[in-house]
Order: sequence, then structure tokens, then C-alpha cells
Amino acid sequence: MPSISDNSPDPKVPRHIAIIMDGNGRWAIRRGLPRLAGHRAGTENLRRIIEACVEFGIHYLTIYAFSTENWGRPPEEVSGLMRILEDVIDRELNELHKEGVQLRHIGRLERLAPHLQEKVLHAIELTKHNDRLVLNVAFNYGGRDEIVLAIQRMIRDGVAAEDVTDELVSRYLFTAGVPDPDLIIRTSGELRISNFLIWQAAYSEWYITPTYWPDFGKDELKKALDAYAQRERRYGKVSIED
Ligand code: FPP
Repeated sequence: MPSISDNSPDPKVPRHIAIIMDGNGRWAIRRGLPRLAGHRAGTENLRRIIEACVEFGIHYLTIYAFSTENWGRPPEEVSGLMRILEDVIDRELNELHKEGVQLRHIGRLERLAPHLQEKVLHAIELTKHNDRLVLNVAFNYGGRDEIVLAIQRMIRDGVAAEDVTDELVSRYLFTAGVPDPDLIIRTSGELRISNFLIWQAAYSEWYITPTYWPDFGKDELKKALDAYAQRERRYGKVSIED
């Protein structure tokens, strides 16, 4: 993967933001609309947030679009979310490519319909040299599933127990080569990790807002970035003032 140019990153600006885009269903129900209308509104909002991330100099954005647990939703919602992924690729790919967005996928592609897998792979191939923003789309993604898969692959590769280190595990994850998220945003106020980036989130800062995802626009993102800039990241150590 080509490296993103950040020779002197500003520690007050997160290099990598990950987002749990929650609250689409409640957003829709409050308006008397079907849940899928909330996912559609959430998709439009995603466009705004991608643009804002480019503008604010964020280098990596990871979005939780479909979890390994989401297969348990009603079939029409599952197929609606599949259609949204397809529509996003069909309608937005060229524009994202022009804007220098590199699309990546984390999760397992194999349970998706073959034609959708092909579209995802085409989008990844087309944009692989872009370096303005890396957009990781977590689709059929689960943090535990990712770790299980990494362990299986390490065993298959014959890795010796004493060679298993933090760095090696990271290299076996879907996010290999991507720095851990500095900031994780969760919309709609729930206080849980929901199987998202459970390895990578070890030292991430969290920002949780009651705002539903379709309403989490550029101004809300700016508030999250301002809150992040106030944080002191200690990584388990003591403050420099102590
Ligand atoms: C959680 O809200 C949201 C999701 C499970 C789907 C998120 C998907 C999008 C925003 C569409 C973008 C997708 C792609 C493929 C780019 P919820 O339905 O759990 O909301 P609720 O908790 O209010 O019911």
C-alpha cells in the first residue's frame, strides 16, 4: 500500500478516525420512515463526512458499515444494506477516485454475492494508488472473527509460539499496514464497542455523542476533533506534568 504523506503529523489531529455509524434506524422511526430510509440518509451523511475528513487532513477513516452480527437483522434490511454498498460503488466510485480516496475493505468478502465481491475488488484495485484519504469499509466485519482468522493463518504459516508478538498479530489482521485508530466516534449514545476493532482500539480515544448518524455532519465532526485535541494520551504511562 503506498504510504500516506505525513512527515510531521500534528499530534492534535488524529491520523486515523474510526466511526460506529449508529442510530440510522431510530432516526428513521422518529420520522415515521422505514429503517432503510435511515440507512440511506446515513449514506448521504457519509459523503459529507468523507469530504470533511479530506478537508481536515485526516489520513485514514474506517467506517463500520455491516458487522458479522448484522446478518441476524430482518432479511429485507440485510438485502437493503447490500444494495446500499452496491449503489455506493456504482454511483460514487469515480468521484471518490477523482478526490484521491483509496478504498479498502476489512472483513470477509466471501459471504457477499459474487457480483458484489467483484465490484468491491474492482473499487480496491482502481483506487489502490490514491493517497489523500484511505477509506476502510468494514463490511461483514467482526473484531473477534478478525482475531480468530489471524490465529488460524499464523498456525497455518507455522509461526512459532515465541515469535508471536504484538506487531506480528497486527500484521495478520485485516488492518495490516494501517495505524491503529487515534479516535473512535460512536453516534447515537450507546456505550459499547460492538465487536469493532477490538485489537486496534487498545489505546484509542473515544468520542460518543447522542446525535444519530444521519445528523452527524461536519460541525459535529469538528466538535469531536476539538475534543480530541484537548485529550492527553498517556498510553498507560503518567502525565508529563506528574
Ligand atoms: C447502525 O444503525 C448502522 C448500520 C448497521 C449500518 C450503517 C450503514 C450505513 C450508514 C450505510 C453506509 C454503508 C456503506 C456500505 C458505505 P442501526 O440500524 O443499528 O440504528 P438503530 O440502533 O437506531 O436501530
